[in-house]
Amino acid sequence: MLVVIKKDYDEMSRVAAMFVRDRLLRKPDLVIGLATGSTPLGLYQELIRMHKEEGLDFSRVTTFNLDEYLGLKSDHPQSYNFFMRENLFKNLNIDPHNIHIPDGMVKPAELDEYCVRYEDAIREAGGIDLQILGIGRDGHIGFNEPGSSLGSRTRVKTLTQETIRDNARFFSRADEVPCYSITMGVGTVMEALEIALLAAGETKARAVGVAIEGGVTAQVTASVIQLHRRVTVFLDEDASLMLKRKDYYNFAAGAEEDFEKLKS
Ligand code: PGA
Repeated sequence: MLVVIKKDYDEMSRVAAMFVRDRLLRKPDLVIGLATGSTPLGLYQELIRMHKEEGLDFSRVTTFNLDEYLGLKSDHPQSYNFFMRENLFKNLNIDPHNIHIPDGMVKPAELDEYCVRYEDAIREAGGIDLQILGIGRDGHIGFNEPGSSLGSRTRVKTLTQETIRDNARFFSRADEVPCYSITMGVGTVMEALEIALLAAGETKARAVGVAIEGGVTAQVTASVIQLHRRVTVFLDEDASLMLKRKDYYNFAAGAEEDFEKLKS
């Protein structure tokens, strides 16, 4: 696991975008797993800039979003579908047919079948090459709340009260926040060939600390990334505050850069 700590959010977002660009230049038909939330916004803005100013091409890219609230229509301003269109897709040359976001309006009786089909679609696309992740204050990835099976697949998940409270800031009232979601499972995420997890701000420091340096546990679903073969964690200083081995991560990130230069 490579842990890259940058001085602030903007710098972290820029470096994460360079990382995505590198993968995309090597594989123009990259299959990317995407996350919503405030954390990846800077990364998305930087990718948009790279598209507009440098001609970074997304025409052959396929995307799969991690999750969606159950019960929100795709045009609801708080739906993740709306978020992705506004904050990323409408500004890129991505083929709408290649965009996949769980549908929050599937009828309850059809949800099991729908979730199986979402997994099938990922497989049919050749699997996810690069999965972008944020992390919740309770250590969740996607909406895989504490206690989610580490082998879980795409399914309906009940949100924790903490997540509902955290997300209430985007709604006019806390009781408007849906209490169910459709989310890729932890097992689904782990099948991506590569994972990039981003976290910024002091409120994430504890979750980052236990996910990276604690034991692997379903109580902190992000900790499962310790079992993945190719993970890069992008942090700002504040999110790294509780890491005990920070000096080594900085040393290793620098050494890794030097090594890359030797190879090229
Ligand atoms: P945030 O959410 O990026 O808005 O902090 C992350 C998450 O809950 O997964």
